[in-house]
Amino acid sequence: MSALASRDRLIVGLDVPSVADARRMVERIGDAATFYKIGLELVMNGGLDLARDLVGSGKQIFLDMKLLDIGNTVERATHSAAATGATFLTVHGHDSKTLRAAVSGKAGTGLKLLAVTVLTNLGEDDLREQGLTASPEQMVAHRAALARNAGVDGVVASALEAARVREIVGPNIAIVTPGIRLPENDAGDQTRVATPQVAIAAGADYLVAARPIVAAADPRKAAQIFVESIEEGLSLRSLGSSG
Ligand code: C5P
Repeated sequence: MSALASRDRLIVGLDVPSVADARRMVERIGDAATFYKIGLELVMNGGLDLARDLVGSGKQIFLDMKLLDIGNTVERATHSAAATGATFLTVHGHDSKTLRAAVSGKAGTGLKLLAVTVLTNLGEDDLREQGLTASPEQMVAHRAALARNAGVDGVVASALEAARVREIVGPNIAIVTPGIRLPENDAGDQTRVATPQVAIAAGADYLVAARPIVAAADPRKAAQIFVESIEEGLSLRSLGSSG
């Protein structure tokens, strides 16, 4: 994955209220970004047509659907998602049945599956409530191994977990990292944030950023700054590996 261009490693989260707003945002950002994430809010409101249109205009799409259901439903939903031309789709990585159903649903398509290990808004108490005794870090490690064994293409992990996840999944599974902030940005509701340089140096392949770009006064400029920071992170990574 080291051959990926810096610009193609930035995924801009289209966390805006409507498809019309999303189309305007993509236009404003122009060629400063090539990859967009469409989540549940937009999907409930015309987001799949938007995904098809953006694919048609040469953009890459991450459908953040976080699937979790019986195997038959997950398999068929994954197959339908692939028909949009999306590059990435998320599935919850709680169990091998769900993961393997999604893997068979994408067979023969160009879609890549990302497993969500533990949502970043969940802490130790929330896992207890679910009857789980492991810490969030232990659950992330456990589920990263399940994801690897099920044959997914990538894992969603915070920058703080990226290095540990890399040890578990090896070099060929992508690590996609949300919660990215430039030093001047507000963290908002994210608690485990990192700069692009730190996330990339820790082994992330792709970064997801929404508010720091779509809520910026100049979203195009903000995307350009992110791409430059990714470039710096890649240099730090190669310095680290050479010495
Ligand atoms: O605005 P911000 O950059 O914090 O948005 C991050 C995006 O990544 C949001 O769309 C959020 O839903 C998503 N995400 C996340 N943490 C995860 C998975 C997805 O923040 N574990």
